[in-house]
Amino acid sequence: MVFIPRLFALLFLSAAVSLAQQDPAADRCPAVPAKPILSKLTDPFTFFNKHPVRTKADWECRRAEIREFLQRYQLGPLPTKPPTSVTGQLSETGAFNVTVTEGDVNVTFTAQIQLPTVDAVGGPKGGVPAIIAIGVPTIPIPPDVAVITFNMVEIAHSTGLQSRGKGFFYDLYGSDHPAGGLIAWSWGVSRLIDALEKHPETGINAQRLGVAGCSRMGKGAMVIGAFEPRIKLTIPQESGAGGSACWRISDHLLHTRGVTTQTAGQIVKENVWFGPAFDSYTGQIGVLPFDQHLLAALIAPRALLVEENTGIDWLGPESVWGCQRAARTVWRALGVADRMGLSLPSGHNHCALPETSKPYVEAFIDRFLKDKEKVNTTVFYTSAEFPEYEDKDWIDWDVPRF
Ligand SMILES: *[C@@H]1O[C@H](CO)[C@@H](O)[C@H](O)[C@H]1NC(C)=O
Ligand SMILES: *[C@@H]1O[C@H](CO)[C@@H](O)[C@H](O)[C@H]1NC(C)=O
Ligand SMILES: *[C@@H]1O[C@H](CO)[C@@H](O)[C@H](O)[C@H]1NC(C)=O
Repeated sequence: MVFIPRLFALLFLSAAVSLAQQDPAADRCPAVPAKPILSKLTDPFTFFNKHPVRTKADWECRRAEIREFLQRYQLGPLPTKPPTSVTGQLSETGAFNVTVTEGDVNVTFTAQIQLPTVDAVGGPKGGVPAIIAIGVPTIPIPPDVAVITFNMVEIAHSTGLQSRGKGFFYDLYGSDHPAGGLIAWSWGVSRLIDALEKHPETGINAQRLGVAGCSRMGKGAMVIGAFEPRIKLTIPQESGAGGSACWRISDHLLHTRGVTTQTAGQIVKENVWFGPAFDSYTGQIGVLPFDQHLLAALIAPRALLVEENTGIDWLGPESVWGCQRAARTVWRALGVADRMGLSLPSGHNHCALPETSKPYVEAFIDRFLKDKEKVNTTVFYTSAEFPEYEDKDWIDWDVPRF
């Protein structure tokens, strides 16, 4: 048992070295194995250097470490400095133009604001709560909450491998910038929020923002919630691989059980959602010092409601179940388990939120965007049985209480 963590560290080191290319120690390190090592999910409560995470302050540092790993090996990096300037301009139709300047280059993207049709919390002077819908709204948004539609493909294109390096993000930072599409979208939402904070005349309260999206926009919503702390509520819907499913469990479902599940190896051939660095790891996910449960965990202690679908194997419902059980241990450690929910009901059309899930969406919006503190947001539900799933196959950590 003792040698496993060391082996793991060595494998990871050799992977890191091959990425860096120039370290002379590379010759002395063992070759990275060609087959995936389907080890368990990574322990949220142990730093990479093996020190335990014991307090809330430790968790802040662990979160910083996870953010760093996700950027380096999977998503690609955010720019390290804020842009030179961000300004907003609102038209009478609610089109909100956000101009971002970096050095002497600027880009302007447009988010569409649809204000509530009925009286809302905080409005009109205090600003109303809003959900930023990635691409298109696919959850029921209550009439007293604004909808801000964010056209993510302006920021980073998403039409296949030929989209690499295309979009406003890359116009500003260079077409060879190593950020993948998902983290570029997250950068775009952060700039939108910068502009909303400066322009209260939009009617939006930038302290009460949620984000939601489905499918690839669900993967985007998860990454945006993880990397933008000003988002109070994150609702990824049917995000599957690259969102709420874990790479290791999905690899197991496909390679060991023959379930047609989307894996890391497939997804990087389909689109440019991840940074180019991830290509080197998709055949050996086991060497990575994280999995998608830790992407979700970056959102803690803020609110996360994961909406999924048992009827589409491609989304990896069993992988989502295990992955989000693992993620929830972080909210449990922080003493706020009811701020993290999963609704995994039976099959329905992709992105058509079923009736069963609607009350959970409403409850999370009520509590986290409208401050209805007493609303019950305890939900961790699936209609599936997953007879072959066992926590002990993937989760081998005890949950501390900070
Ligand atoms: C917003 O940007 C669009 C596209 O660049 C432009 O056509 C429109 O005039 C701009 N609107 C405002 C209010 O600046
Ligand atoms: C954006 O750049 C153009 C020149 O390419 C310039 O005319 C325009 O004033 C700039 N806009 C802002 C808001 O800086
Ligand atoms: C909250 O709802 C869950 C079901 O989603 C239920 O099990 C629990 O008892 C409820 N808690 C309270 C305090 O009503």
